[in-house]
Amino acid sequence: MPTALIILAAGAGTRMRSARPKVLHPLAGAPLLAHAIAAGAALAPARTVVIAGHGAEAVAAAAHDAAPGAEVAIQHEQRGTAHAALQAAPALDGFAGDAIVLYGDTPLIRSATLEAMAAARAQHDIVVLGFEAADPGRYGRLVMEGPDLARIVEFKDATEAERAIRLCNSGVICADARTLMRLARRVGDDNAAGEYYLTDIVALARAEGLSAGVVTCDAAETMGVNTRAELAAAESAFQARARAEALAAGVTMTAPETVHLAHDTALAADVEIEPHVVFGPGVTVASGARIRAFSHLEGCTIGAGAVIGPQARLRPGARVGADVRVGNFVEIKNAELAEGAKVNHLSYVGDASVGAAANIGAGTVTCNYDGVSKHRTEIGAGAFIGSDTMLVAPVRVGAEAMTGSGSVITRDVPDGALAVARARQDNKPGFARKLMARLRAAAGKES
Ligand code: UD1
Ligand code: MG
Repeated sequence: MPTALIILAAGAGTRMRSARPKVLHPLAGAPLLAHAIAAGAALAPARTVVIAGHGAEAVAAAAHDAAPGAEVAIQHEQRGTAHAALQAAPALDGFAGDAIVLYGDTPLIRSATLEAMAAARAQHDIVVLGFEAADPGRYGRLVMEGPDLARIVEFKDATEAERAIRLCNSGVICADARTLMRLARRVGDDNAAGEYYLTDIVALARAEGLSAGVVTCDAAETMGVNTRAELAAAESAFQARARAEALAAGVTMTAPETVHLAHDTALAADVEIEPHVVFGPGVTVASGARIRAFSHLEGCTIGAGAVIGPQARLRPGARVGADVRVGNFVEIKNAELAEGAKVNHLSYVGDASVGAAANIGAGTVTCNYDGVSKHRTEIGAGAFIGSDTMLVAPVRVGAEAMTGSGSVITRDVPDGALAVARARQDNKPGFARKLMARLRAAAGKES
């Protein structure tokens, strides 16, 4: 049976106090919406329909980034979750299979939980994801009847006795797509909020003789983001989970609580991460590599056995080969460093390729930008770039070539050649003492 994902993401998110739609705020480097889509991807959905409203254009773009085949339906007015889900009806017309409704602002649901819900559909026509809340607050309450779900009551409409129930509605709901749409159409708005509640479909289904059941998960998974404080709490929960997964997969972290991972950080077994390392999106690190303290990496690949940092910055397009060394205060951008190359101190390497075992001396800069365009620097295998070399791109330094320290290289250097491009040194014997004496006399000071 194919599955359709329906992701509700039309709300404004007023409490975020932001010009940006709530579901586009990033968590671990990806929008909240992308996290919901990624969780649902475990069900290999045949269709993904995102319900957008506030900031629909930007939300649609993010939906397509996360799932290129996603369809976007617009809910012009936010009239409740049932009304929102119904906006998917035209897109799902003729679709035979299950639909699962997720919220775009609930990023921590685990794929395994959604799989358990799909499996529970063998026993129930409608499956709702619930959780035991320590403080149930304003969540909808799940009213059970033995092992079956009788109905869901919203906090605003609940009696005191119902408010005492601690089993809460996460909002995730799964049913046959046509049943879901048919029931959602029957929902009315006669309630405390004057909204069309998707939660009402449970009682409607039961009245028709259909069955409803609950799958439960940890409360941490259902954490919704409504405020900046909740966004920070969700980030911290995501980080805790991602670090635990990395440790379990064989990554060494001496102070995992200080390491910041992105949603897609790929760390092989036997990678070592020192304290205070930040991963932006798009980083892959191969086995045996060591990322030293206070380094910042994004959009890059690190080869086996490489050592990065401390205090290194790897920007998008950095492709670092096996056993490469990138040391302190070195920035690498859109550049390939072949096996065994070394850039150990205080250098900028951008729009460049560095051959195997080449050594880039301290303070080297690839001058890649002329104010209008970017240009490439090529450094051959085994080359030795002297400290403080300015490589004015486009320029090529050949294999096993050398540049003298302090050189400004503006022309290609042939393989095996030494290029020295700096003023010749002139020593003037005794001149320094004479000059000092003259300066002191002029300032009226004793010599
Ligand atoms: C909802 C549930 C409640 C549950 C809680 C869990 C209903 C009626 N209530 O309440 O039982 O405990 O979630 O967090 O479903 N949205 C739209 N269009 C709308 C309304 C909402 O797209 O017209 C989206 C929102 O952007 C949000 C999600 O649906 O992503 C949930 O809406 P929200 O208003 O937060 O529902 P709650 O009142 O929290
Ligand atoms: Mg909510």
